[in-house]
Amino acid sequence: MLGRSLIDIDNLEDHHISDIIDLAKVFKKYFKDGALHRLVDSTKASRKLVYLFFTEPSTRTRVSFETACDRLGVKAIYLSAGRSSVAKGETVEDTINILKALKPDALIFRSKKLKIPMEDLLSSPIPLINAGLGTQSHPSQSLSDALTILEDRGQIKGERVLIVGDVLHSRVAHSNVKLLSRLGAEVAYCSPKGLAPRNEVWKNFKNFDELNEGVKWATVLVSLRVQEERHGDLLGSIGFSVAEYRDKFRIGYDQVNIFSPEGIILHPGPAIRGVEISNFALRDSRCRILNQVENGLYVRLALLSLILDLKV
Ligand code: CP
Repeated sequence: MLGRSLIDIDNLEDHHISDIIDLAKVFKKYFKDGALHRLVDSTKASRKLVYLFFTEPSTRTRVSFETACDRLGVKAIYLSAGRSSVAKGETVEDTINILKALKPDALIFRSKKLKIPMEDLLSSPIPLINAGLGTQSHPSQSLSDALTILEDRGQIKGERVLIVGDVLHSRVAHSNVKLLSRLGAEVAYCSPKGLAPRNEVWKNFKNFDELNEGVKWATVLVSLRVQEERHGDLLGSIGFSVAEYRDKFRIGYDQVNIFSPEGIILHPGPAIRGVEISNFALRDSRCRILNQVENGLYVRLALLSLILDLKV
């Protein structure tokens, strides 16, 4: 991974995926033992500088990347679009080039779809790390979800993962279907017709019209937020009120009661209580949302350590 960009799960070879997940597990252990200094070359780390440039809001991804930099001893500089010259009309693509010209050791970005070809992103001499790209991809969240499933279920191969909700607009769902199926999971989805995925990638995956049928089938449930901010023209055509959405697609009391006792419930966040997941489901002992968040830190520690070559 040294010096490489990470834009999409497709950019990772199988050995990269296992390297990141294995190293994230090691980071988790050393972190809990208070021994991160034994894993990281602190002299090298102290000479590294990383930029974060976000054009969309974020809690988990931004803070976990910044926390990872801090724990590694790497300096991080954060720039939001609203506080940058994007607010004066400069494009996001030009801003990325300007930040690259300042020669950070990596540039972590979150943005809407970019007008930069994938090959240019991947061949960037400054490693670019995708922290959420439009509706397209969110690889570091997916890797965190994979680690959470692995830890809890003991394997990913053979797991039955049901992704529920606004699949169409979910960059996490698009990354999860690629990553988890590559790791041997069976993936299926359940969504309102207007929010079903249209991307070719999903063509061969099972679709459940009835949520409860899917819940009975699954060992891992992934609930997704309805991303109204991305609906645009679709809004009128979805034809669902919040009440109807809840009725058909919310993970709530009925689903919790029919779900496998050994299964786990995930949500990449942010979760909107009462819409796609109920308070009852969020309190259930199988809910692993905070584990996903915590594992996001170890995955990002591992990613930065590999890309910046910080391991002792
Ligand atoms: N999962 C995720 O990307 O959350 P944030 O938007 O809070 O970073």
